[in-house]
Order: sequence, then structure tokens, then C-alpha cells
Amino acid sequence: MLLEVITLFPELISVPMRTSMMGRAQDKALAEVRVHDLREKGLGKHRQVDDTPYGGGQGMLLRPEPLFEMLDEIDKPAARIVYLTPGGKRFDQATAQRLAKEEHLILISGHYEGIDHRVVEHWVDEEISIGDYVLTNGAIAAVVVMDAVVRLIPGVLGDDLSAVEESFGTSGLLEAPHYTKPAEYRGLRVPDMLLSGHHGNIAKWRAEQALERTRKNRPDLV
Ligand code: ADE
Repeated sequence: MLLEVITLFPELISVPMRTSMMGRAQDKALAEVRVHDLREKGLGKHRQVDDTPYGGGQGMLLRPEPLFEMLDEIDKPAARIVYLTPGGKRFDQATAQRLAKEEHLILISGHYEGIDHRVVEHWVDEEISIGDYVLTNGAIAAVVVMDAVVRLIPGVLGDDLSAVEESFGTSGLLEAPHYTKPAEYRGLRVPDMLLSGHHGNIAKWRAEQALERTRKNRPDLV
């Protein structure tokens, strides 16, 4: 999958995307990330990218010209173009799964109060919000979306089952709690069931725990 990101802050994308699993996905050629610095398309000698909103209002918006010019230049016969904005549809695992099937994603990360809406009208296939809160920088949201999508590309996770057995996997519930060694630490013991070696009972225990945890933390999912 080719992932291209348009941002004013390339390092906010490139560093996380070459770290850990995202870096390995690229080393294995399962994903390629290209970062485009919007400042390169800025206007005049100050490379201006933003301006005040028509009709008044707070803050600055990204002007259309730099984004149009950048998008003109990107080769994109079959790309899906996504704009990251708190005004978008809320991102979830089903959306990550859908996007993971694309060959080519172009992510536009906003800044300031957003972008001139003509960019959305002319170019954007979907607007995505990563949650009901506002970040200063859409590049962070782009990294969240890319991480969630890239890890679903077959071969990226060592064990493809781990993408199924996790929270928001096929059960629609949160995951059961997990424990590792030592079996006792500072008087805190791992539940006996997990040490029993009885796989059938452990699976049942985990299903009960998953339900209990979901009831407590995410009653909206039950
Ligand atoms: N930019 C600022 N806040 C955002 C959010 N919640 N989701 C996506 N992009 C954003």
C-alpha cells in the first residue's frame, strides 16, 4: 500500500512511521509512506500557506492554492483521498479495515482552524475524525489512522491472529485482561485460572472477563 501524507510538519509523520512496526512494514515493502511538505507550495517569498476566514471568525485557514498544487502533482490514478478533521466521521476499526484494502491512500492533515472547503469539495473522498476532541495538528491524527490501517495489511503483524483476537476484533467486545511472568509480584497474583493449563476453561474465563470489562469501560458496546 502506498500512503502519501500532505502536512506542514513532515517530521511528525516520518519519525513515528519509521519506528517499530510501521518501520518494519516499510522494510518488508508491505507499505510505503511518502511525506509531502505543504510549505513547498506556499505563496511568495514567505511561502504563505494560511489566511483569515471569509465572513470573519477565529484563527487561520489553509489557503486552497498550496493544497491544489500539491494534489495536482501527486500521481493518483486510483487513490482514496482522506482529510483528517474533527469535523469528519468518527474513525473506528471497521473504517481501518475498509481502508486497509486500498492500494493508495492520500491523507491531508489540517492545521490551524482547518482548510479552505473548496479542497474538500474538489478532492476529498472522505473526512475522518479520530475522536471527539480537537488536536492542534492533523498530522498526529494522520499517524493514528495510518498505524491502525497498516497493521491490518496481511503480513505486517507477525501473527495474523493477533488482529482478530484483540479489542474490537470479531467479538465486538474489549479484550480480556492479560498477564505475564512473574506469577506473583509484590503480593499481586496472576489469576489461578490462567496458570491451570486448561485451555477450554481459560477460553471461557477470558470470554467472561471480556464481557465484564466491556460492561465496565464501554457499556455502549454491550
Ligand atoms: N485535527 C484536529 N483534531 C482532529 C481530530 N479529532 N481528528 C482528526 N483530525 C484532527
